[in-house]
Amino acid sequence: TQIPFSNLENEKERFFNPDKLKHTLKQVKEKLNNRPFTLSEKVLYSHTDDVKSQEFVRGKSYLKLRPDRVAMQDATAQMAILQFMSSGIPQTAVPSTVHCDHLILAQDGGHEDLPRSKDLNKEVFNFLSNASQKHGIGFWKPGSGIIHQIILENYAFPGGLMIGTDSHTPNAGGLGMLAIGVGGADAVDVMAGLPWELKAPKVIGVKLTGKLNGWTSPKDIILKVAGILTVKGGTGAIVEYFGSGLDSISCTGMATICNMGAEIGATTSVFPYNERMAEYLRATKRDKFADWANQNRDYLSADKDAQYDQLIEINLDTLEPHVNGPFTPDLATPISQVARVAKENGWPLEVKAGLIGSCTNSSYEDMTRSAFLINEAKQNGVEMKSQYFVTPGSEQVRATLERDGVLKQFQDAGGVVLSNACGPCIGQWNRTDVKKGEDNTIVTSYNRNFTARNDGNPRTHAFVTSPELVTAFSIAGSLTFNPLTDSLKGKNGDFKLSAPQGHALPAKGYDPGQDTFQSPPKDGNQVQVNIDPKSDRLQLLKPFAPWDKKDYTNCPILIKTVGKCTTDHISMAGPWLKYRGHLENISNNMLIGAINAQNNKANSVQNFLKEGEVFDTVPGVAREYKAQGVKWVVIGDENYGEGSSREHAALEPRYLGGVAIIVKSFARIHETNLKKQGMLPLTFAEPADYDKIEPTDRVDLLVSGDKLHEGSQITLKLSTKDGKHKTDILLNHTFNKEQIGWFHAGSALNLIAAQQKK
Ligand code: F3S
Repeated sequence: TQIPFSNLENEKERFFNPDKLKHTLKQVKEKLNNRPFTLSEKVLYSHTDDVKSQEFVRGKSYLKLRPDRVAMQDATAQMAILQFMSSGIPQTAVPSTVHCDHLILAQDGGHEDLPRSKDLNKEVFNFLSNASQKHGIGFWKPGSGIIHQIILENYAFPGGLMIGTDSHTPNAGGLGMLAIGVGGADAVDVMAGLPWELKAPKVIGVKLTGKLNGWTSPKDIILKVAGILTVKGGTGAIVEYFGSGLDSISCTGMATICNMGAEIGATTSVFPYNERMAEYLRATKRDKFADWANQNRDYLSADKDAQYDQLIEINLDTLEPHVNGPFTPDLATPISQVARVAKENGWPLEVKAGLIGSCTNSSYEDMTRSAFLINEAKQNGVEMKSQYFVTPGSEQVRATLERDGVLKQFQDAGGVVLSNACGPCIGQWNRTDVKKGEDNTIVTSYNRNFTARNDGNPRTHAFVTSPELVTAFSIAGSLTFNPLTDSLKGKNGDFKLSAPQGHALPAKGYDPGQDTFQSPPKDGNQVQVNIDPKSDRLQLLKPFAPWDKKDYTNCPILIKTVGKCTTDHISMAGPWLKYRGHLENISNNMLIGAINAQNNKANSVQNFLKEGEVFDTVPGVAREYKAQGVKWVVIGDENYGEGSSREHAALEPRYLGGVAIIVKSFARIHETNLKKQGMLPLTFAEPADYDKIEPTDRVDLLVSGDKLHEGSQITLKLSTKDGKHKTDILLNHTFNKEQIGWFHAGSALNLIAAQQKK
């Protein structure tokens, strides 16, 4: 069996080979004595690179996998592609795509915002477009839609494995695909044809019984799960849904649930193949996948008696609609309690704005159910009390909604239809109705509601809920409104909104809208990718120097951090998003959020090259060390580098001359990112040794010869600033043989490039 990966021009002759996957799975099964597998195990293990040498212990083994595809959004693609370009590999090894969705404004509506955004980001979009052509990458232009929606419509399929440089990549689990969010460096590996490493995840089972009904929507399932598991509960695990309740959830609804699984820290989420997926595959013209999946239902669902590491059961018959927030997506309140809880907590009760759409909730079903409520309100002479914004997830959804008159219904009710892009979800909302610092409430159908995410105002109380509830709150204008029980005042007296009705799929089929896809040429060799050397947004990467085979001696400590040091402390987002393609410029944010143990201040460290106690910014001091050829280290606390997978947090210290990050413990992705960039991530064998180090001390790291080998310990010789030896400290590392090669070569990329030249 061979099925083209997609209907897009450039992938018609690139084939998915399910027989190979099934054969690999059979080998793994035999190796594990034919024990029953969860669906997650089936999909992951069938993508094993080398079954013979691979161990399969959930929560322990590092799996080497061969994903089927890679997807990147515009903010993360820049550095991923710059790195890929330095590898010297002409074409990506697996089908890959770039999606322009994050860098688009949300202000006056799509018609005005899109051209302005294209203009503002012209240089970046041109670069992404040219580089995509050169390297065989499908390019989705600004206005095409949000990465995860485009993936669902065109590329996701049951039993597939993909990685994406965005944390909501798991959205594709709604079509039975295991889709995992990663950093750009991982994407480069897979595009370069290398296997991709993932710690074998645990599996959390969620059994759904009963039927969705009334006001309850798919979103309420994940809002409930988030309440149960909290923001950390899914860490290191795949959430796998099953049970008789599945059939009452549309395919796009299942995608909503998987999408927001990112909010509980899950590696990804997935649904077994079912009829609803078949309907969606056929509606999006992928009958071949539906036919194949119909014949392979066993392969695309868990074995009977499969064992889960944790099991949750939810009865959809009795599941209430939920509202989660403010400020965290796991503070779940059932609708019947919202009014009381809101009053008790002093949350602002007036709903200033309702926002529907985003990658989480912008399906035809979501939009038609919301429009149903708006129409009913209109028939009763009730106008929308709150501002109302609609973000279609893709050009296809937008065009279909326009054709079917749904957009007009939103607009007639005062709604503003924004571009097919992330918009307010990633803070591109230029909000003018409230001042910064003013308490207010907004409700969204998005997935995240961290402080200031949508409008930059830390006092905005953002609640995430279903699009239907967003719409009901916006009609009533108050958070105390419970549409299940409360009435509204209409022109003919009091009335209650009916339970929303919509269409899972458009009766007339999808309208593809404008063609927003750029297919790469068969041979991209002749395509020029020019980067203006004067650009402040893009910069070609220069390879890092290989290791000089010497010990590192007399290194100053750039900063001894105390407390939490997440990737946001190491490489902040917000205004810095602009420089994601320019290593020199973005390095000016390196560690500016970390707290210095020496003075308890952020972005203030001593410059040890200067006489007396001279303090300067962290990047400022690092730049001076670099200019003087002085190698430096960072000392850190627990779980260093937690949070996002952005590799800028590893690239920046490497770029500014750091050689080692020595901490009590690491977040796994960041540790791998550091290794990939040729840094030494090291941990104290005795965590209490962290306390023996003064920020003014000097460090020798004995790594010459073969001292850094698999399982070895590294000696840190600690001296005072005047060179008086204080003590020796033992450090651990988790480098395997191959990764030590990255360190020797200066980075994983150098190694790929060297192999490429051979
Ligand atoms: Fe974009 Fe927000 Fe989704 S930033 S990818 S719409 S979570």
